[in-house]
Amino acid sequence: MTPTTGPGLVLPRGFLMGASTSAHQVEGNNVSSDWWAMENRPDSSVAELSGDAADSFHRWPQDMDLLSGLGFNAYRFGVEWARVEPERGRISRAAVAHYRAMVRGALDRGLTPVVTLHHFTSPRWFSELGGWSSPESAELFAAYAAVAAEVLSAGVRHVATINEPNMVALMHTLLRTADRTPGMGGDSGAVAFDPGSLEPDAGVTRALVRAHRAAFSALKAADPDLRVGWTVANQVYQAEPGAEEVAAAYAGPRENVFLEAAREDDWIGVQAYTRHRIGPDGPLPVPPGAETTLTGWEVYPEALGEAVRHTASVVGPGVPILVTENGIATDDDALRVSYTSRALASLAAALRDGVDVRGYLHWSALDNYEWGSYRPRFGLIAVDPRTFARRPKESARWLGSVARSGRLPDTPAAAAGVAHAG
Ligand code: BGC
Repeated sequence: MTPTTGPGLVLPRGFLMGASTSAHQVEGNNVSSDWWAMENRPDSSVAELSGDAADSFHRWPQDMDLLSGLGFNAYRFGVEWARVEPERGRISRAAVAHYRAMVRGALDRGLTPVVTLHHFTSPRWFSELGGWSSPESAELFAAYAAVAAEVLSAGVRHVATINEPNMVALMHTLLRTADRTPGMGGDSGAVAFDPGSLEPDAGVTRALVRAHRAAFSALKAADPDLRVGWTVANQVYQAEPGAEEVAAAYAGPRENVFLEAAREDDWIGVQAYTRHRIGPDGPLPVPPGAETTLTGWEVYPEALGEAVRHTASVVGPGVPILVTENGIATDDDALRVSYTSRALASLAAALRDGVDVRGYLHWSALDNYEWGSYRPRFGLIAVDPRTFARRPKESARWLGSVARSGRLPDTPAAAAGVAHAG
């Protein structure tokens, strides 16, 4: 595969190009978290346990060496609340020191850290109190954010409070209505999180917005220069002819309410993988014959450009966008390159049209724990599950060369040329 050459959109100065992970999915042995407890319940329906994950809790220096060596200038990773506060009010100074070292380690390698404070997992004690449904949730989360500010003071500017609050609220509905673990199971062992007609729990939605605002204030009080936002799952709802109102009603509680809550933020994270078509009776299945990924999602790279345009239109001007996740679960690495180059072309077109995008962080840096299974592989870097040896894939070298070039492939033709080169 050859590096991107030829024309392309010259990236604005300071544009972040890198990759993302989350704590539970890569660290391993997140034993004080509610997900660990859920996975290890005797009646758990989880296909695979997270276990050691990618052992990034110990191997983060190697992960960062690889990412900076590949040519990236940014890395999004998580601080795990369950490690920082394993029991209510009991702060692990060792965990705070660990994450401070990660921040310094990123900066030392030329990687701008983008740090997430909550990525689906909570401390077990927090869940036992009722999680986001607890009347104390906002206050408890803000107290944790104030502690996390100590980590961030090692040199972080971009912090995300909560990852995909819209998915979190949906998971609460799933747990309540189906009494099963969200995002897990299915014969394939792949993530089978198909919300269908389920709606996010409205009370949890309000609680998440409150928690975000409370954490926002706590973080700003600790350091007014922090750039605080949250990251929203952009589902790219496409209305079939005549279904415009149905699609708007569907998108409201599932996505737009979380985007509207970001209007006062310093930035917003866009996470987009595929599209969802909505017909007059609601969500439609993947079109017959369409190519799908290991998670069963339609291969639809242009979702990225559509997602940033949609987010910009709801959030309004003045709130810059970071793409904090975009990628594909596949064992076909050439498909990862073609998918990503088409996604980047759609992003370049949005930038040309004036959408204020400041960075692109691919999901994921590593093959990791996909909430119940290791089968859907999203990584730029493969991880041997026994030795934890890392092996960058061709897609990692390709995307690293895009980052180095300072340009985005911006036409489908240029993208296809990259995808099929070498
Ligand atoms: C989540 C990640 C997940 C990815 C792929 C996003 O919804 O933030 O944790 O691995 O999608 O399913």
